[in-house]
Amino acid sequence: MNSHRKLITLDEFTIQETRQFPQATGELSALLRDIGLACKIINKQVLKAGLADILGKHGATNVQGEEQMKLDVYANEMLISVLRGSADCAGIASEENDEHVCFAEDFSVNSKYVVLFDPLDGSSNIDVNAPIGTIFSIYRRVSPLGQPCTTEDFLQPGNKLMAAGYVIYGSSTMMVYATKIGVNGFTLEPSIGEFCLSHPNMKCPEKGKIYSINQGNTCKYSEGTKAFLDYCMENNKEQGRPFSHRYIGSMVADMHRTLIKGGIFMYPADKSNANGKLRLQYECNPMSFLIEAAGGVASNGSMRILDIVPTELHQRCPIYIGSKNMVEKALSYADSPATVA
Ligand code: AHG
Repeated sequence: MNSHRKLITLDEFTIQETRQFPQATGELSALLRDIGLACKIINKQVLKAGLADILGKHGATNVQGEEQMKLDVYANEMLISVLRGSADCAGIASEENDEHVCFAEDFSVNSKYVVLFDPLDGSSNIDVNAPIGTIFSIYRRVSPLGQPCTTEDFLQPGNKLMAAGYVIYGSSTMMVYATKIGVNGFTLEPSIGEFCLSHPNMKCPEKGKIYSINQGNTCKYSEGTKAFLDYCMENNKEQGRPFSHRYIGSMVADMHRTLIKGGIFMYPADKSNANGKLRLQYECNPMSFLIEAAGGVASNGSMRILDIVPTELHQRCPIYIGSKNMVEKALSYADSPATVA
């Protein structure tokens, strides 16, 4: 790294961003910093994941006599604990909890925002040391201040999001988040324990060459989805050869690549799952908000994901997301790809 380059930390960046808006109170920025803090603590634990068997199996006690927790449970509890202590969060909803949680402290009931998260997405990848991540999103609450938050605060469509993003625990740890003004990425500098701006103003390439889907499920896909996959595997018009296929099976990792290199990530409906697998409020909406802020496109096969009005906290949603050219191409096969054959 150029030693003369000024290091901009996440904290400094969010403060500078707030100053661009004279009416901003700094609460949203503070919340982003709190999420960053929780994820730094989770990261420390993720880095020790391979040692679980050495230190003691889950459910057992470790050498310090502390109970070992599964990483996703640990991540969930850490986010809840940090956000409960934050002056800027009225409550949370987590993929790990059946119901939302309202924080009862005096400062919480007067907080403007609620946070939704998938604390450890792709957790089946932990055992094979592949990238995993935390996905988060922030809504301004619609319930009155001074009272506990309500279900309605968490069932807002993605087009009402104030900010959303993810932390990827990969070969390096990065936090990428979007507000309506753009997408920025911060790499954790372990020696100082700070997220530092490394990827300013991220844009999803308009044209991609990579498709990302669990192709093992092809027999269950609709005829439209199968036809699009055939197109991806042919010598297509765009590049005169087939597209490349990449699939990690951890949405954060597959989306991080899609954001940087372009392409399409899909988790369509199939014969066994009429709405796909991924959750609207914890995975599809935050990623759709982020990819749109980066110039990309996100659809459920028939409509913009951000315009779907959620009816349940844990509802699922098919997703086609990424570079404009590839998502539009996939949707052109939508007889529809979202419809089960
Ligand atoms: P989990 O957190 O249970 O491992 O689920 C991961 C999610 C998402 O991150 C990924 O894109 C998708 O499930 C992978 O599902 P398949 O294994 O069905 O492809």
